[in-house]
Amino acid sequence: MAIRFDGQVALVTGAGAGLGRAYAIDLAKRGAKVVVNDLGGDPHGEGADRSPAQKVVDEIKEAGGEAVANYNNVAEYDGGFEMVKQAMDTWGRLDVVICNAGILRDTAFHNMSEEDWDKVVAVHLKGTFTVLRAAWPVFRQQSYGRVVVTTSSSGIYGQFGQANYGAAKTGMLGLMNVLKQEGAKYNVNVNTIAPVAGTRLTATVMQEDMLQKLVPEMVVPAVVYMVSQDCTDSGYVIEAGAGNFNRASIVKGKGVQPGTDDLKDAEWVQQNWQQICDLDGAEPMWRTGQTLKDYLASKQ
Ligand SMILES: NC(=O)c1ccc[n+]([C@@H]2O[C@H](COP(=O)([O-])OP(=O)(O)OC[C@H]3O[C@@H](n4cnc5c(N)ncnc54)[C@H](O)[C@@H]3O)[C@@H](O)[C@H]2O)c1
Repeated sequence: MAIRFDGQVALVTGAGAGLGRAYAIDLAKRGAKVVVNDLGGDPHGEGADRSPAQKVVDEIKEAGGEAVANYNNVAEYDGGFEMVKQAMDTWGRLDVVICNAGILRDTAFHNMSEEDWDKVVAVHLKGTFTVLRAAWPVFRQQSYGRVVVTTSSSGIYGQFGQANYGAAKTGMLGLMNVLKQEGAKYNVNVNTIAPVAGTRLTATVMQEDMLQKLVPEMVVPAVVYMVSQDCTDSGYVIEAGAGNFNRASIVKGKGVQPGTDDLKDAEWVQQNWQQICDLDGAEPMWRTGQTLKDYLASKQ
């Protein structure tokens, strides 16, 4: 069965270029009405330009779809509300939010300025908060919502020179893990994409042939499926792009449980370090409080 978004409204941030543009175009082809947000700054977060968002809207309309341009800055609290308001004022609902807008200010940690840190954290982490905070009451009220937030391999595994970006991108996992719980009762699913694609953000790290070959359209299917009605999973991290799709997860190892009757010391940890760190039989995405629950259960 074809995945369709007829009658649904989607908001994609940073949709004037790269991955966001590809998500917006595919959603519109599948019947969604799309708010194409883009501030239109440079890859380091300087400046503003209305033409990227407008071009994508023109492209969607020429192909017979429906879209409106939005030029707000995701890093501003009011910016998030303006985008959601525009969706509501134009079409009266909002079903899908893809938080995708992003910038880079890479430098080794010992050279990282306060501005490098603040700007990157503001666009990625606060910029996801502002949009979702505005969309959340709409989702709760209509008992439906599909969200994809954007992390990076840098946020999952780390990448030299990206302390600001990696920290902000790991923040997506924390945000998703909380919102998947708060949204569950309202049929609001929150998943995370870790993409790989040739775009202007990766232009400095990818060679020209890779940039051309690894098109954003290789990421699109994972994101579009996750924001569809058909996807009922929440709290998943999916890596997609460059001809690959896989799930990534935080896991909890089996560990060692010496019990509470006998306090252990650092030497005991040293002696048992291998077993404490062993990931054989580890389970994905353990729930908060599980260790305490297991302890209480063992006392009954
Ligand atoms: N391309 C990759 O391989 C890759 C890998 C990991 C993560 N990502 C993430 O994917 C997302 C999209 O990146 P891309 O590669 O398509 O880059 P891109 O530069 O092509 O697109 C990002 C868009 O976001 C917009 N934007 C930036 N700051 C904004 C703001 N404050 N408000 C509104 N719009 C803003 C930009 O104008 C730009 O059009 C980013 O979050 C990025 O960190 C990309």
